[in-house]
Amino acid sequence: MRHLKNWDNKTWLSSQQYIYNFIRFLNKKIRFKQNHLILDIGCGRANVISDLYKKYKFRNKPIGIDIIRNTNIKKNINFKKIDGISYLQKTKKEFDVILLKQTIHFFSQKKLNLLLNLIKKKLRSGGKLLIFSLKTKNNQIPSFKLMKIKLKKSLKRDELLFKVIKKNLKKFNISTFKFKVTINNQKYVKMIESRYISCLLNLKKSEITDGIKEIKLRYKDKIKFTDSLICISFNK
Ligand SMILES: C[S@@+](CC[C@H](N)C(=O)[O-])C[C@H]1O[C@@H](n2cnc3c(N)ncnc32)[C@H](O)[C@@H]1O
Repeated sequence: MRHLKNWDNKTWLSSQQYIYNFIRFLNKKIRFKQNHLILDIGCGRANVISDLYKKYKFRNKPIGIDIIRNTNIKKNINFKKIDGISYLQKTKKEFDVILLKQTIHFFSQKKLNLLLNLIKKKLRSGGKLLIFSLKTKNNQIPSFKLMKIKLKKSLKRDELLFKVIKKNLKKFNISTFKFKVTINNQKYVKMIESRYISCLLNLKKSEITDGIKEIKLRYKDKIKFTDSLICISFNK
């Protein structure tokens, strides 16, 4: 699969409003303390942990890891370009909070199970793991026909991954993070052009071009929808 490079590149997912709302959601789950060490696996441009650091001024900078080094990664965090499993196998650190946001679908069932075992080892006692992933039922992500088919297939696979997670963690809580998006049709077309979501990565250029024509016709100038994520939280 190609790499995902434009997910949080000037999209609603990197907007101040989104990050503000997301951190408010995290605040309801975690009582952050200055001595907390945070790890974000699959951090992308690290917008979330960067803002967390600004807000809480942790003694140690949060650590963000990703298999790709994007442009414009936030500077106030410690970034490492490494795969999540390799990092956890090597590091001697223990963490108070581990985030895994919209990243599980890059793992096979077997690798996800291994990742979770390593995470459980590397969480401090009392530490928290938060996993976020697209809601699989009635998802509202604006799509063209082929994109919808690919997305549906990917969300079906996510349901299997949720089963792996639930079996592995045994005790967990489930909630939903919702964000109301309003975006210009033109801007959304640009996001599709840049293959912002993984179900677009392997489409042919001509399929993207046809899809964009469909988006322009199917949706109004201002597209409105709710971006909903399932949150699975686990306490050690
Ligand atoms: C959809 S993006 C989410 C980025 C960020 N967490 C967010 O929500 O804005 C998924 C990220 O996971 C990264 N990723 C995929 N496989 C990974 C792995 N094995 N280890 C670490 N990061 C990985 C991708 O490169 C990508 O940046």
